[in-house]
Amino acid sequence: MAMEGHKGSIDQSNNLNGQQHIVITGATSGIGKQLAKDYVNAGHIVYAVGRDKSELAKLDTLGAVPIELDLMDRDAVKTAFAKLERVDLAICCAGMCTYMDMPDFNSDTFMQVMNVNLGTLAHAIDGLLPKLIESKGRLVGLGSASAFVPFARAEAYGASKSAIHYLLKTLQISLKPHGVVVSLVIPGFVDTPMTEQNDFPMPFLQTPKQASQAIRAGIADGDEIIEFPKRLTVPLKTLGALPDLVWQKVGEKLSRND
Ligand SMILES: NC(=O)c1ccc[n+]([C@@H]2O[C@H](COP(=O)([O-])OP(=O)(O)OC[C@H]3O[C@@H](n4cnc5c(N)ncnc54)[C@H](OP(=O)(O)O)[C@@H]3O)[C@@H](O)[C@H]2O)c1
Repeated sequence: MAMEGHKGSIDQSNNLNGQQHIVITGATSGIGKQLAKDYVNAGHIVYAVGRDKSELAKLDTLGAVPIELDLMDRDAVKTAFAKLERVDLAICCAGMCTYMDMPDFNSDTFMQVMNVNLGTLAHAIDGLLPKLIESKGRLVGLGSASAFVPFARAEAYGASKSAIHYLLKTLQISLKPHGVVVSLVIPGFVDTPMTEQNDFPMPFLQTPKQASQAIRAGIADGDEIIEFPKRLTVPLKTLGALPDLVWQKVGEKLSRND
């Protein structure tokens, strides 16, 4: 039996039976782009959100409805999303990652990562929630397995993703009475432009297709936590639950890169 609290109460509107109206942010690249393509191919109406004009034009050709939008512009986001007739499912993939090399703690870099990862999600929720309440729909956001344990160099990215985990887990409780089911996606490593910068081993690296498959299956099953690949997320979560000293030793060894 599934653990209590990990499944959203599923009614017809949360299953992907029939044509759904789906908003995807970060649809111009990586995981969001693959999800947009897959949901279009499955016959759904996909609103593909991003800033990259040429990628948006390609998505238009594939059958998505492109929405050119800087998600950091709250007013523009509210205006754009208010125009949508209906939203059953919103998947918020927009985000960025910049590593920090200590002792260079650059607060501009730190705040940029925090602002983009949290701001794009917060503005999307702000703009889309009225529609999701209307449809008794589903809100999905992207966290990261990096939030399970502290990784040196990921001070900014990990902090932003930890905040996203807290935000979405809180909304899982507070939006339930309003009929909106909230899912937190926790990926390990996925091979996208974001991870191209990584100069360290990425165990169990997934393709965007595998990531899209795992996310779509989790959404269709009504899962509130969608984590993959389990081979990576379960050990990391277990390490994160152990006394801090254990991870500090492992983390110190990893950050020496030996
Ligand atoms: N790849 C991984 O290994 C991995 C692992 C764990 C979690 N994640 C999370 O999964 C999500 C997708 O990651 P990805 O690897 O697919 O990244 P990606 O390929 O770098 O794509 C990032 C997307 O974010 C959009 N974006 C960034 N700032 C934006 C803004 N101000 N307004 C609108 N769109 C904006 C970009 O669109 P435009 O440039 O067109 O604006 C782009 O489509 C992120 O939240 C990431 O943190 C990724």
